[in-house]
Amino acid sequence: MATDQTMHGVPPSLSARVVGSFAYLTVRDRLPTILTKVVDTIHRNKNKFFEEYGEVGIQAEKQAISLLSKLRNELQTDKPVLALTDGLPDTDSWNQYLERQQRLQGDQEPVSWFKSPWLYVECYMYRRIHEALLLNPPISDFDVFNEGKTQSFTESSQAVMSLCTYLEGIKNNIDELSTNPLFEHFSKLMQVSLWGNKCDLSISAGQENSQKTSPLDSLYSLLPFILVDDTKRVWSALISAQRPRESGKNNADRVDIVLDNAGFELVTDLVLADFLVSSGLARQIHFHGKSIPWFVSDVTAKDFQWTIRQAMATNHKWVSKCGVQWQRYLKEGMWCYHDHPFWTQPHEFCDMAADAPDLYTTLQGADLVLFKGDLNYRKLTGDRDWEHTVSFETALRGFGPAMLCSLRTLKANIQVGLQPGQGEKLTSQDPSWMTSGKYAVIQFHNPKSE
Ligand code: F6P
Ligand code: MG
Repeated sequence: MATDQTMHGVPPSLSARVVGSFAYLTVRDRLPTILTKVVDTIHRNKNKFFEEYGEVGIQAEKQAISLLSKLRNELQTDKPVLALTDGLPDTDSWNQYLERQQRLQGDQEPVSWFKSPWLYVECYMYRRIHEALLLNPPISDFDVFNEGKTQSFTESSQAVMSLCTYLEGIKNNIDELSTNPLFEHFSKLMQVSLWGNKCDLSISAGQENSQKTSPLDSLYSLLPFILVDDTKRVWSALISAQRPRESGKNNADRVDIVLDNAGFELVTDLVLADFLVSSGLARQIHFHGKSIPWFVSDVTAKDFQWTIRQAMATNHKWVSKCGVQWQRYLKEGMWCYHDHPFWTQPHEFCDMAADAPDLYTTLQGADLVLFKGDLNYRKLTGDRDWEHTVSFETALRGFGPAMLCSLRTLKANIQVGLQPGQGEKLTSQDPSWMTSGKYAVIQFHNPKSE
């Protein structure tokens, strides 16, 4: 098998091996902070475990904390990455991936936290957190990140209200809207969903990071921070996918949204999805979430259902109306939620066709796939040290189950598809442009236009 270095024309993976790099600082500082918070959270819930399960709950709490402290120590002392032992359906695939990494790295040194691809070791940390809980029934199902996710929703309540009010306003006369105003609303809601991605809890190492003000008010002033804006191409893609329906309407069959964070970002995605369906631009929306707690704030099935129930129960006319509508879409099958295990594995997406062919086939059924957030961008581009001017298509390395678009605020040292000189200019003006979450891209690819 080719190594990272020998694969023709493909740059190496980002890694904490480069001292001082963002990957290095993440592995050195951010990941141990996240692990410490996980330990604190479990410990703070000790009484709850005791009330629910008695002494067994306390034993499980102690055991889980001990496994997590061991994990933190392995990370901080750059120990070899260990095989998983929890016997879940994906355990073998993780262990095979470890062997694959070892082959890629050669046998001079073991796969380890600071020497191996950052994408791999960071994903592995979340899988090990899951293992620490799973090995300790009865607290196996405890989501250590739940508090932060629900808090992010609650603290964004003003922003949620203004967004739902805006959506309900549009829906009032949506059937009469001509193409231009429809495009304007589409573009605004894409931007709201884009900037919703600022609110993740991994970049802030679990620190509160919610949306306090109305996102709609700041869209105009944020426009210069969108480095690549392919909204018009996404729109054309949706229009070109319109087909006549029995209902008498023309629309695209299906848009898939590969979700990122719960809390405010999820609400922005639900609002966009609602708009796509109610405007008739799409007939169906398929959401893809995570099957285990992941990167602190990522959406799981529980978060998804909880958010919709919370919206329904909110004492605000338009928010609760949205919640009721979203529940109805799910019940009637216009919306559905999937959580394929591939989303919580460390693979670059160019591996999907070979390593998760069923998921690849599922995505091929979509007219358009929206990938939310930074981690999805890292996986789309392989988390590699690409030149900024390399095209998105090149960085995707053949991944293209359908027309796709990444909506991402920049929180890792990787960005492709820029104009010559654009990256250099940004570096001189604002050295942390790739990691501050201040900049963003709406980047589109049509595999059929190659
Ligand atoms: O911890 C690092 C990281 O992978 C960053 O790249 C990013 O800030 C975050 O985690 C995940 O971001 P997102 O929620 O946008 O995928
Ligand atoms: Mg995330």
